[in-house]
Amino acid sequence: MDAKHRIDIATPLLDWYDRHRRDLPWRTAAGETPDPYRVWLSEVMLQQTTVATVRPRFTEWTRRWPTFADLAAADEADVMAAWAGLGYYARARNLLAAARTIAAAHGGQLPDTEAALRALPGFGDYTAAAVAAIAFGRRAVVVDANVERVVARLFAIDAPLPGARKAIRAATDTITPDDRAGDFAQAMMDLGAGICSPRRPRCLLCPLNHACLAQATGAPEAFPVKKLKAERPHRHGTIFWLQHGEAVLLVRRPEKGLLGGMRALPTGAWSEEPPGLADAPVAAEWRMLDERVEHGFTHFTIDLSIAVARVESLLNDGEWWPIVRLHEAGLPTLFAKAADVVRRRA
Ligand code: ADE
Repeated sequence: MDAKHRIDIATPLLDWYDRHRRDLPWRTAAGETPDPYRVWLSEVMLQQTTVATVRPRFTEWTRRWPTFADLAAADEADVMAAWAGLGYYARARNLLAAARTIAAAHGGQLPDTEAALRALPGFGDYTAAAVAAIAFGRRAVVVDANVERVVARLFAIDAPLPGARKAIRAATDTITPDDRAGDFAQAMMDLGAGICSPRRPRCLLCPLNHACLAQATGAPEAFPVKKLKAERPHRHGTIFWLQHGEAVLLVRRPEKGLLGGMRALPTGAWSEEPPGLADAPVAAEWRMLDERVEHGFTHFTIDLSIAVARVESLLNDGEWWPIVRLHEAGLPTLFAKAADVVRRRA
């Protein structure tokens, strides 16, 4: 696309954004200087999590840790627990590591270029570009799943994802303006979320419909083309609910591996067949509940049985956590689901 096309896209899109942008807690009014801490935190939270889920969590988090320095001084266990339920826990560990690096080595300020940002823990292509553009007004090419869809449609890119990513990025580069690159990126995201939606795009309301090649085909929803995914493997496991009086045994998962470092109910190895009571934390009169918990991770799905038992003496490593305060333990969703089942069924 040439310079004229660039204006053809950016100008109507930014006009539309000025009228219709979503009011979100990490955004600033036009003319106000964004707070890089809030921009960074929101972009990390939004990477795998929806705006609706992030909104209240962002507000709670920034009340508790309003600046890089506050976060840098936080306890890792508190940070991990505050992330509970948002998934992809490496993000929380990287947030803390980056906050500490920023406090120690950057005078408490985020560096303001894409290249320098990329050197920080947890900053990949997307985060570095989004923060450089939104917090610092740098021209950067910001591509998330919403942008990917909008651009694949604008240019009718019919190569299947993920192979088409390079072409989509190159096309995004051609329409990204030098000014207001952060607003441009967020406008593309809002357009993708509200108008250029996956299944039923509302092309009549779209400020870019005059330039959209997919709309011209009559089937804009066919873009982007997706390669059929291989089925995720399915695993089985057992969650052990060991109770002593009104407390339940919690353990910390090993640092390396899935849900690493998170507080959890004990489990054994996850395997292709239901493992039953293998790897129970103590010998006890275990009883299997008839309701199970299902959970989807990125690379596999899992089906977990729940075994419950009581013990009379406190002979185990781990923490005995009061059941009435279990919601404060920061358990990942999978274990919070199991706790709900126990409360209903045991
Ligand atoms: N998704 C990722 N970043 C976003 C932002 N800044 N605004 C809206 N949706 C987003």
